[in-house]
Amino acid sequence: MRVYEIMDGVKKYRFGSPISTDAIVLEGYEIDNEKPRYLTIENNKDLKLKYKMAVKDQVFGLGENQKGINKRGGVFEAYCSDDAVHTPDKKSLYGAHNFLIIHGAQKFGVFIDYPGRVKFDIGFTHRDELEIIIDDKNLDLYIIDGDSLREIVNKFLKIIGKSYVPPKWAFGFQQCRWSYVDAEEVEGVADSFIKYDIPCDSIYLDIDYMEDFKDFTVSKERFPDFKNFVKGIKNKGFRLIPIIDAGVKIEEDYDIYEEGIENEYFCVGKDGSPFVAAVWPGKVHFPDFLNKDARKWFGYKYKVLTDCGIEGFWNDMNEPAIFYTERGISEAIGFVEKSKNKNLNIYSFFQLTDCFEGLSNNDKDYKSFYHNMNGKLVNHDRIHNLYGYNMTRAAAEGFKEIDSNKRFLIFSRASYVGMHRYGGIWTGDNHSWWEHILLNMKMMPSLNMCGFLYSGADTGGFSGDANAQLVIRWTQFSLFTPLFRNHSAMGTRKQEPYAFDIESVDILRETIRLRYALLPYIYSEYMKAVREQDVYFAPLLFEYEDKYSKHVENQLLVGGSLMIAPIYEENALARHVWLPEEMLLWKVVSYDERVLEVMDRGHHFIDIDINEIPLFIRKNKMIILGNHANNVEKLETLEMNIVAFVDNRATYTYYDDDGMTYDFKQGAYSEIIIDIEKIDEDYKINIHNNGNKHVKKMNFDIVDMSGNITKKSVKI
Ligand code: GLC
Repeated sequence: MRVYEIMDGVKKYRFGSPISTDAIVLEGYEIDNEKPRYLTIENNKDLKLKYKMAVKDQVFGLGENQKGINKRGGVFEAYCSDDAVHTPDKKSLYGAHNFLIIHGAQKFGVFIDYPGRVKFDIGFTHRDELEIIIDDKNLDLYIIDGDSLREIVNKFLKIIGKSYVPPKWAFGFQQCRWSYVDAEEVEGVADSFIKYDIPCDSIYLDIDYMEDFKDFTVSKERFPDFKNFVKGIKNKGFRLIPIIDAGVKIEEDYDIYEEGIENEYFCVGKDGSPFVAAVWPGKVHFPDFLNKDARKWFGYKYKVLTDCGIEGFWNDMNEPAIFYTERGISEAIGFVEKSKNKNLNIYSFFQLTDCFEGLSNNDKDYKSFYHNMNGKLVNHDRIHNLYGYNMTRAAAEGFKEIDSNKRFLIFSRASYVGMHRYGGIWTGDNHSWWEHILLNMKMMPSLNMCGFLYSGADTGGFSGDANAQLVIRWTQFSLFTPLFRNHSAMGTRKQEPYAFDIESVDILRETIRLRYALLPYIYSEYMKAVREQDVYFAPLLFEYEDKYSKHVENQLLVGGSLMIAPIYEENALARHVWLPEEMLLWKVVSYDERVLEVMDRGHHFIDIDINEIPLFIRKNKMIILGNHANNVEKLETLEMNIVAFVDNRATYTYYDDDGMTYDFKQGAYSEIIIDIEKIDEDYKINIHNNGNKHVKKMNFDIVDMSGNITKKSVKI
């Protein structure tokens, strides 16, 4: 084992010769060999890392997974999985985020940098034992010391590098469905948003825009003049976001297929010929995203669509999802034939059904193909979790070639730690279940801890039918998530914000308008999280260590000033909220009507009507709002509104940039630092404008601890 100091308080322990994942951006330097602190290592058949948990230890992290923010009691497997039924017993979803934090008697973080299968048994088998089992003996183990959860997370975020930044319009509301099949239907969606006066920035193209599900093609029948169509929709105020799938259809004369074959860019089977699996188009080959030449080739193909005016994409089925292979089909058919005219019993009958159910995403298939990594053949199973990551990296690297300073929207279904530098993620095929609003709420801070800031769930739920109430409550939460997209599956009830009765449409309109009005705050907090390598969503424990805050999982901190407590139960019109300190409650019905109430520290049962969104502004903090517009580019920031809750002094930094380019990395951004100080019975407002040329006036609603409101306006 070799040991490296990566940064102060972060050590890397190298076992064997691991495959490079590029998860970490800092190299550090080698130090004297020493054993990893905290963990006991058992190096027998497989490698086991063990930790004895104290009674009150909590375990956080693991990104996209089931269960709570505190993962204790669960068992999880890092193995990117295409599984559309996210029931609580599922051990893997689409992402593999092997970072966890033990918070209790001792505090430390652990990152297992290994791209194959890793099991995390967090007190499931034995109540007080944490056991991490790794399939291989070649890996990097990182141990991170820190005095608090936030400090450990911040160190981890430092070593994995800064997050991807999407264009600002990607913070607007986005509408998706599988599928808006043709130009006419897409046009209809755009017109409905206009008709109902609901803000929206993008409309999605799911798999049916393609010709026979072939990547980088557009159906001529359904979109006869695609380039002009993209332009027309943009003139109406919307961007179109097409899907790109991992599998490339096997079809002669299809250029992507032909080029992939000619240049040996596809993954291969044992015999060296391109590996064949089936997905949407039937038989496909998988581009070898682990091969940098193939990555470059595929990434540049996005130009086919960017040349038509497309500025954003979502990468899908990149675990990679496999419907079936010839191996699976022939084994299954063989079994059917053997079963013919047999008296099937409990075992043989279920064996028969299993051989069909097990056709998709089968381990045997994942073990039977190979990647060319710098000339070395590597079995897919060993690097499984890097596949979607590198598809998204291919796209991001392609965008750099296509237009180096333009920010494109890109997010992925499968991911691994480190991919957050190239794109965002959505959390895959959830259901229109109330439980999934809560799961979404718990996943967001866990994803942030693993670096994924630009993320969000299918609002309203993907599978199953949603009623208006569910879509409203979910939207009332999602308005805070950086990726804010309503998406649903084929065959389900329509759930666009205008798809319901007129009262519901009115509520959804106000909810989405609040998102646009709050964008100055949301964007500032997002960009500060990127810059400071911090989280955007946090559990209360990040800021408050009292006995209740430690365990609250249904309220979240959003950026530095806000706490939210969404409703996630059907028919609920009130809920319990724990306030770790006095806070200013604003139940938003419409963002331009401010009804503000000071709430004491303690337990509260708060009425929250179906049209109300409770915002809790923390003590000595403020939020900044503008006015809504029907898309992000139309937002104007001449006049801003500040709502502040001030005991003695509050300071806020309002960040802005051009929203389109990477110039902010060279310092082309502005900041307005707002400082409110209470002096006697009045407030002194100090505004330091650092380069903002847009804001001309700020209106203040300053609330003191007794609820008195002072209104002020300041010219900038
Ligand atoms: C997968 C995706 C989903 C998409 C569907 C069709 O299930 O997760 O979002 O709509 O494929 O492309």
